[in-house]
Formats: sequence, structure tokens, C-alpha cells
Amino acid sequence: MGERLYKTHCSNCHLDGGEGVGLLVPPLAGSDYLAGNRDRLVCMVRHGFHDTIVVNAKTYSEQMVGNDKLSDIQIVNVVNYVLQSWGNNIPPLTFEVAQKSLEQCDR
Ligand code: HEC
Repeated sequence: MGERLYKTHCSNCHLDGGEGVGLLVPPLAGSDYLAGNRDRLVCMVRHGFHDTIVVNAKTYSEQMVGNDKLSDIQIVNVVNYVLQSWGNNIPPLTFEVAQKSLEQCDR
């Protein structure tokens, strides 16, 4: 389920291998941003965000669109796919924890 959601909603920007696009779209494969922001990722994916962030020592500041049509379970699945793909080995989120975060997205 995570992979299919990723291909539909994410890979047009982040690409199938999670490699990103130059300085426009940050990589997800091997991203050092993921571990430190693990609890926020579900909110970022649902609501999108526009910030200046540093991923693997490069600065990105384009806007990421939100995904307000995805259910809580779909968001958790796609985030866990990212955390566990392309050599990433970050513990997946439980549905309970992710749902709590989604209830508390600050916006
Ligand atoms: C329209 C293009 C676009 C789409 C579609 C998109 N993203 Fe992003 N994503 C971005 C951009 C641009 C940033 C950097 C945003 C910033 O700097 O504020 C980003 C940042 C991220 C980050 C944090 C930085 C990193 O590289 O670790 C994660 C995680 C992420 N996206 C996951 C996803 C997931 C999962 C999906 C699909 C549900 C998705 N994105 C869909 C463009 C996109």
C-alpha cells in the first residue's frame, strides 16, 4: 500500500528511487532530515509545508504540496514506506502515534 501511494502522490517530485531533483526537491533516500523529524512527517505530508530546510548539507526552500485527500492510514503507510525504503532504516511509526500527531498538527 505504501509503495503504490508513493508512486501516485510523491514520486512525480521525489522520483521513484527517492533521489529528489537537484536543489528543487530534496532526496528521501538517505535523507538525514527524516530521523530528526520523524514525528512531524505525517503533518508535513498531510498539510504540505514551505520552509527552508537542510537535507544532507544542502538547503531547500521550495514548497511541498499537501495531501488532504489521503486518510490517516494512507498517510502513515506512505511515510513508513519512505522510512523503510532505498536503504533507509528508520523505525516505522505505529498507527496510534501517527494519529496523535495528525490530531495535533499546528495549523
Ligand atoms: C510538488 C512536489 C512534491 C510532491 C508531490 C511531494 N513532495 Fe515532498 N517535498 C517537496 C519539496 C519541494 C520539499 C522541500 C520543502 C521545503 O523546503 O519547505 C519536500 C520535502 C519533503 C520531506 C522532508 C525533506 C526530506 O527530503 O527528507 C519529506 C519527508 C517529503 N517531502 C515526503 C514526501 C512524501 C511522502 C510525498 C508524497 C505523499 C511528497 N513528499 C510529495 C516536493 C514534493
